[in-house]
Amino acid sequence: MAHRERLICASSELAEQGRGVRFALAREGKPQPAFVVRFAGVPRGFLNQCGHVPVELDWQEGEFFDDSRLYLICATHGALYHPGSGACVGGRCAGRGLVPVPVVERDGHVYVMEEKQ
Ligand code: FES
Repeated sequence: MAHRERLICASSELAEQGRGVRFALAREGKPQPAFVVRFAGVPRGFLNQCGHVPVELDWQEGEFFDDSRLYLICATHGALYHPGSGACVGGRCAGRGLVPVPVVERDGHVYVMEEKQ
């Protein structure tokens, strides 16, 4: 499957362990909610879908990190995910991690690699 890069945001919008940016990802022919955060200096993209129940993680737009800023948290029941891998690290996700989305950073901008329609 061919891919293309699509702009998500400027690099400056993603502070380390700060607010994330939501975007829609074309996947299997339909748009799906996704988000990107910065962790360990690198943008990390995931589908915005909890491993427990398929709801979006953030009640407050862009707030994906928990209070410790170490984990991504689902606002519904508090499942915790590792921001580097998306792996479930606690709570009701019960081993079901977030689905990673390929993102790249180049020349001050962050792009998602999307299936070409
Ligand atoms: S829906 Fe996310 S923890 Fe239950």
